[in-house]
Amino acid sequence: MNCNADDRLYTPKLARIIQASQLTESERLFRLRFPDGEGLGHKPGQFLELSVLGVGEAPITIASPPDEDGCFEVCVRKVGNVTSALHRLSEGDLVGIRGPLGRGFPLEELKDHDLLFVAGGIGIIPLRPVIKSVLARKSEFGRVILFYGMKHPDEWLFRDEFAQWEARGADVRVTVDRPVAGWDGHVGVVTTLLAEFQMCGEMIASLIVGPPVMYKFVLLGLSAKGLRDHKTFLSLERHMKCGLGKCGHCQINGVLVCRQGPTFSYAELKDLREALLG
Ligand SMILES: Cc1cc2nc3c(=O)[nH]c(=O)nc-3n(C[C@H](O)[C@H](O)[C@H](O)COP(=O)(O)OP(=O)(O)OC[C@H]3O[C@@H](n4cnc5c(N)ncnc54)[C@H](O)[C@@H]3O)c2cc1C
Ligand code: FES
Repeated sequence: MNCNADDRLYTPKLARIIQASQLTESERLFRLRFPDGEGLGHKPGQFLELSVLGVGEAPITIASPPDEDGCFEVCVRKVGNVTSALHRLSEGDLVGIRGPLGRGFPLEELKDHDLLFVAGGIGIIPLRPVIKSVLARKSEFGRVILFYGMKHPDEWLFRDEFAQWEARGADVRVTVDRPVAGWDGHVGVVTTLLAEFQMCGEMIASLIVGPPVMYKFVLLGLSAKGLRDHKTFLSLERHMKCGLGKCGHCQINGVLVCRQGPTFSYAELKDLREALLG
């Protein structure tokens, strides 16, 4: 039986883990499906509240693009109670899902634009569904450029997909913060890649997701290159409970990140000083 959209926001609907794979030491990718075959109906950049039965609930980004045969994915770092309990589950087990929640990236408004993606660490998770959606409709967009920075190559998420994205026309650059034995790629924080970045004109948009410290320097670098605030998009992570704009946990000076975000344009955040401080 299909439930209506409102039910799915308030009441967890059970989904089955159909595949679980360890991506790095602390991140695991789960492929999920509702037993009745109903799709999630999300937009790239939205999140869900995922509950492990008997343990609790956590906000988690939807890591896959829409329309994958009724399946959807989450990539979860093991940090505490809920995420550790989820890591102990395996194929066939059930989890609760509320959502999709929040506002996704405005992909349709970005048609015909060159797109610059800047991801730091697990910031690649919310950008992956956007990148995959854009590359599936590449003729509707301009250039696709991805800068990805991580502390250590062992933390590289979706590593095998990067070659596929390049094969589909994306210009991909990867960097690690400091020299590491065995790494012969670019070294330096992700902002060092911006120095090589040449783009000009109105039809450029950037999508940035990473730790708060990264935002400050990437935003400075992009505005020095003339990128417009209303065409620069970010995703914020805040402590959340309801995910529905009811409890106030995620509030920053009256802005409810769970409902009005988690994606925002920089123009929307510029005067909200606390937003980018973490
Ligand atoms: C919109 C949104 C999307 C997210 N997407 C992802 C994702 O795709 N993958 C992923 O691995 N994580 C994601 N997170 C972070 C994830 O929600 C937290 O790691 C999770 O809630 C921790 O729950 P826990 O019970 O395992 O940890 P707890 O036992 O509650 O705490 C462990 C540690 O994590 C910190 N923590 C707890 N809740 C949060 C929170 N909501 N945000 C940040 N830190 C928290 C605590 O301060 C503590 O230090 C997202 C958070 C938000 C708000
Ligand atoms: S998490 Fe409850 S209002 Fe945002």
